[in-house]
Amino acid sequence: MQADKHVLIMGCGDVGHRLAAQLHAKSWLVDAWARRGRAESFGALQGIDLDTDAPLPASDAVLCVYLVPPPRQGQSDPRLQRFLSRYGARMRHLVYAGTSGVYGDCDGRWVDETAPLNPADDRAKRRADAEQQVSDWARRQGATAVRLRLAGIYGPQRLPRKRIKRGDAVVEPGQATWSNRVHVDDVVRAIEAALGHRERMQAGESLAVNVADGAPSTMTDYLQACAQAMGLPALPELPLEAVLEQASPALRGYLLQSRRLRIERLCTVLKAPPQHTDFRAALAAMDRQALR
Ligand SMILES: NC(=O)c1ccc[n+]([C@@H]2O[C@H](COP(=O)([O-])OP(=O)(O)OC[C@H]3O[C@@H](n4cnc5c(N)ncnc54)[C@H](OP(=O)(O)O)[C@@H]3O)[C@@H](O)[C@H]2O)c1
Repeated sequence: MQADKHVLIMGCGDVGHRLAAQLHAKSWLVDAWARRGRAESFGALQGIDLDTDAPLPASDAVLCVYLVPPPRQGQSDPRLQRFLSRYGARMRHLVYAGTSGVYGDCDGRWVDETAPLNPADDRAKRRADAEQQVSDWARRQGATAVRLRLAGIYGPQRLPRKRIKRGDAVVEPGQATWSNRVHVDDVVRAIEAALGHRERMQAGESLAVNVADGAPSTMTDYLQACAQAMGLPALPELPLEAVLEQASPALRGYLLQSRRLRIERLCTVLKAPPQHTDFRAALAAMDRQALR
C-alpha cells in the first residue's frame, strides 16, 4: 500500500464515516479508530478511548485526520495531547478538525485566518489550545498540519429536528447575529483536499483554513428554513433578551457572537470551494429521510 493512500481517522464518527466511505471508494486504506468499535464496510473500527492511557493499536499510516472533540470541561484538550504523545512520532501529516469558535465575537466583521484568536468561553479555549498543540507538534517533528476551522455543520440526517419540533423561539430577524454553516459533504471535500495539500507544504508548517459555505446568514434564517423544509410550523421570533433568558449557557455564548467567515483560502489554497453555497437550496434538495 502506498503511504500516500493510507490514512488513520482518529474519531471516526459521522464525518469520519462519510470520509472513510469516500476514500475507501478511491482505493485508500483506512484505519478507523473511535471510542466504540463497530464493523464497517471499509474495515474494522478499532475501539480507542483517549480518556484512558490504554495503548494504541498498530498502524503504519503516516497521514492522520483527527476528529475527536475535546472533553466538556477545562481550557485545554488532554485527549489530543494523549494522542500526539503516543502517535505523534509516527505521523507526517495531520488534518485537525476544529471550529471557527476560536475567533470569538467579531462584531459581525468578515474574518479570514489571519484574524487573531479570541476564544470567549472554555469550549473555544479548548479548541484554541488544540490548534496550538497541533502547530507545536508540526514544528517539533518537521511534519505538516492543516487546522480546519469548521462552521456549523448541517446535511442529511444532521439537522436540528428536535429543537424545531419543540418549537424553541429564535431571535427576531433585526437582532439576530451573523453565523456560518457548511454542508457535511463540503467538510469531507475540505478534509480530502487538506490531506492532498501535504505535497505543497513546507516541513514544520501548520496552516489554518476556514471551512464554511461562504454565505453567512443568521441562525434565525437557518432554523426557519429547516422548519419550512421539514413541513413544520415557523418558529416563534422573540427579542434577543427573551431568547437569552431561556437559552443554555452554550447557546447563550453562541447567540452573543457575530462573525462572517471568509473562505478564500479554502477555495484557492486547498482548491476545495464549497459545492453547497445556499443552505435553502441544499435543504430543498433533501428527501424525507435526509430531513431527519
Ligand atoms: N457539529 C458541528 O456543527 C461542528 C462544527 C465544528 C466542528 N465540529 C467538530 O468536528 C469533528 C467531527 O464531527 P462529527 O460530527 O463527525 O462528530 P462525531 O460524530 O461526534 O464524532 C466524533 C468522534 O470522536 C470520538 N470520540 C469522542 N470522544 C472520544 C474519546 N474520548 N476517545 C476516542 N474517541 C472519542 C467519537 O467516538 P464514539 O462515537 O465512539 O463516542 C466519534 O467517533 C468533531 O470534533 C466536532 O466537534 C463539529
